[in-house]
Amino acid sequence: MKGRIFSGMRPTGALHIGHLSVIQNWVALQEDYKCYFSIVDLHALTTGYEDRLDFPRLRREIALDWLSVGIDPEKSAVFLQSAVKEHSELHLLLSMFTPLSWLERVPTYKDQIQQLSQQGKDLGTYGFLGYPLLMAADILVYKANAVPVGEDQLPHVELCREVARRFNHLYGPVFPEPKDLVGNVPLLPGVDGRKMSKSYHNAISLTASSEEIKMRVQQMITDPARLRKDDPGHPEVCIVDKFHQIYTPEVAEVEENCRAGKVGCVACKRHLAENLEKLLSPFRERRAYWEEPGRVEKVLEEGAAHARVTASETMKEVRCVMGL
Ligand code: TRP
Repeated sequence: MKGRIFSGMRPTGALHIGHLSVIQNWVALQEDYKCYFSIVDLHALTTGYEDRLDFPRLRREIALDWLSVGIDPEKSAVFLQSAVKEHSELHLLLSMFTPLSWLERVPTYKDQIQQLSQQGKDLGTYGFLGYPLLMAADILVYKANAVPVGEDQLPHVELCREVARRFNHLYGPVFPEPKDLVGNVPLLPGVDGRKMSKSYHNAISLTASSEEIKMRVQQMITDPARLRKDDPGHPEVCIVDKFHQIYTPEVAEVEENCRAGKVGCVACKRHLAENLEKLLSPFRERRAYWEEPGRVEKVLEEGAAHARVTASETMKEVRCVMGL
């Protein structure tokens, strides 16, 4: 084993294929690292505190998504953040010595407050300012060595390292400084060319049936200059091609046939739908297994119990060096 990994996702609803590469990256990491994968419900509350989020449904959905893609509870701890109280305790203790200015200068902080205030959300809260510090607690409570994240989360991991350094300086060497592992996440547009997002109704969900896949691929916008099948096409302006680039190994041939007007858009879409079907069908089978009543609950319970062992060891040490 190369060390420990922590990562988390907020439970904000069923995932779509744009999230797939992130989870597949986690699945690969399970082989080499001791992994802690957490459904970070407390983080969801920092922005959704007045939304009356349906946590039982949301956590089940995301857990099923992870398990169906291949997160293996025999290898990794899969659990709810709020079920391991040590996250909250460490967050509080870290807050004692974290300068406000460190939190205020996190690049996403003021941006997000502004953006979400346009949607009527008041994020001028203590909890939201502390979002990255709670993240630091998530990571440090397992003494994680590495954190797989998206590019957008890099400033948060950087803050986590600064907090670890400050802690170690003040109280003694307890925490490793975690490195970030930025996976290769291809940018996938939605079927209409905008960013893929459930709220735009342009996403292909991980649970899409064969019919849904076909329907979504049907909606993809192709080269408008291509009126007839044998008109030469321009893959660079075609949404179907963006997907072929990720899911079709023989993409070069597909593009050539398009440019030469040899294969029409209907056939080209059918080809893509078949590849998406191949991609998603193994997940359906695994999901059916995990959907049986009680299975997800058991995974989350055992995952939390497992996580607590490590987290409580860390907290014993932290309390000791802080003189509590
Ligand atoms: N903030 C992360 C996101 O929105 C989720 C998260 C919470 C996380 N705690 C974390 C990611 C710790 C990595 C490590 O994607």
